[in-house]
Amino acid sequence: MKIVIFGSGNGSNFQALVEYIKNNIEIDLVGVICDKPGAYILERAKKLNVPAHLIDYKKYSSREEAENVIANLIVEKGIDYVLLAGFMKLLSPQFVNRFCNQIINIHPSLLPNYPGINSIKKAYENRDKYIGVTTHYVDGGIDTGKIIFQDKIKVNYKKTLDEITKEIHNIEHNLYIKTLQKLLQIHQQRD
Ligand code: GRF
Repeated sequence: MKIVIFGSGNGSNFQALVEYIKNNIEIDLVGVICDKPGAYILERAKKLNVPAHLIDYKKYSSREEAENVIANLIVEKGIDYVLLAGFMKLLSPQFVNRFCNQIINIHPSLLPNYPGINSIKKAYENRDKYIGVTTHYVDGGIDTGKIIFQDKIKVNYKKTLDEITKEIHNIEHNLYIKTLQKLLQIHQQRD
């Protein structure tokens, strides 16, 4: 099964996935696509020997043009799944429809609650009993699309937002690995 990861920032999910894939010969991580020059995910890719493609949207006349470059890469390389891991560019409906059921995202909230940015902070400030993480298929909306898995922690409000955020990131990594295993199952059943 061939996958590509898209990211814009820190890349901790990317790293967790790479470490899992290293020991799994059935999954081929073809590369990482990043839209942000200088993002830490690019440094991680270099250290982990994963081919990185920088697609700086500013260098293209439109989002569609940048997405065409990405779409060509996906088709040329025969990618089965695109895993978004902190990719901050909104993908156009055309792109999403073209790769329907092939694009997966991870979001740090118990969707449908708190789509968009600052979800952990919003849940924490709302003093929600549980804060969680969701993996889901990507459709045309922001953090909508069919849910694959969720996981959550019971929040101890003696802990700071920073501490809770770290805990959430840790459960994210495991949830994304579990999601990847599920995608592999789906892929193998299809073949
Ligand atoms: C994660 O919280 C993920 O859920 C969200 O963006 C963040 C990416 O973190 N979509 P990282 O770049 O994987 O460290």
